[in-house]
Amino acid sequence: MATAVRCFLMVVVVLAPLLAGAAGGKLSTRFYDRNCPNLQSIVRSAMAQAVAAEPRMGASILRLFFHDCFVNGCDASILLDDTASFTGEKNAGPNANSVRGYEVIDAIKAQVEASCSGIVSCADIVALAARDSVNLLGGPTWTVQLGRRDALNTSQSAANSNLPGPGSSLAALITMFGNKGLSPRDMTALSGAHTVGQARCTTFRDRIYNDANINASFAALRQQTCPQPSGGEGTLAPIDAATPEKFDNYYYQNLVSKQGLFHSDQELFNGGSQDELVKKYRGNAGMFAADFAKAMGRMGSLMPSADTATEIRLDCKKVN
Ligand code: HEM
Repeated sequence: MATAVRCFLMVVVVLAPLLAGAAGGKLSTRFYDRNCPNLQSIVRSAMAQAVAAEPRMGASILRLFFHDCFVNGCDASILLDDTASFTGEKNAGPNANSVRGYEVIDAIKAQVEASCSGIVSCADIVALAARDSVNLLGGPTWTVQLGRRDALNTSQSAANSNLPGPGSSLAALITMFGNKGLSPRDMTALSGAHTVGQARCTTFRDRIYNDANINASFAALRQQTCPQPSGGEGTLAPIDAATPEKFDNYYYQNLVSKQGLFHSDQELFNGGSQDELVKKYRGNAGMFAADFAKAMGRMGSLMPSADTATEIRLDCKKVN
């Protein structure tokens, strides 16, 4: 074989995983082993620092990943700032004044670029950062499939229509997760993410004043800092009041004792199809951890449609 041909084939073999990553391409756990071997340790130590400085940041990054994946797949579309040609997701209803951690991802991306420029997608950085967040807060870990690509544009309306709101019924939650190929069991496990983090009064006011299936002293406690009909909209409350900075299965205990913070949380334990599973997760932390990790893998595999043009963004806030 002529040397030139052999060189060409070698280049193809080395670059294939990088070039073949059009949306819908196959993910692999070893995608960056050769071209960015320090990726995982860079993400892990940056997240360790961020979570040590503020434990809630782990929760915020986990949520950011969910909100990315549910809108056109896990393609870092949520990270794009608005431009003249599109209005992005950051200011969509579920995200504005709510999703946090953009600057943490931008800082990790800068470190990754310094180590291996133009190789790693922002979408993969978010997936790794979310996994590390869960683990740093005391939850399980798992191997992340890699090779996602970054979106070139996005739309605010897609974020508004694809993300469930806190007033959702069980049927609506099952449908919205089902639309993403996720089962009711995945949905109930993924909702266990509400074992960490904080929520604004505006997201749970209806529940603490109007729902019947709520523990009375819990409602009274939350009403103290979340008056009706208005006031304190942005005042925060822990979603899991018992262990808000620990990724454990206490969320399900809260549901059984009618202390779910959102209407949508309590819908998982309200005489419906998920009651038995909620009780299992409450009693079996290992089962919850294993199901959560599996469901995160499935959610993390949501891809933009195969004909969508993508790239490896150099700056997560804007297309190249
Ligand atoms: C089942 C449907 C879901 C609904 C209706 C929902 C709704 C919400 C709402 C309203 C907030 C509070 C936002 C704010 O006050 O600014 C929140 C926070 C949060 N959500 Fe969800 N969520 C859902 C599923 C998920 C999933 C699947 C995950 C991750 C796997 C997740 C992770 C989180 C986390 C960690 C927080 C706290 C974030 C922080 O403290 O910054 N949620 N969610």
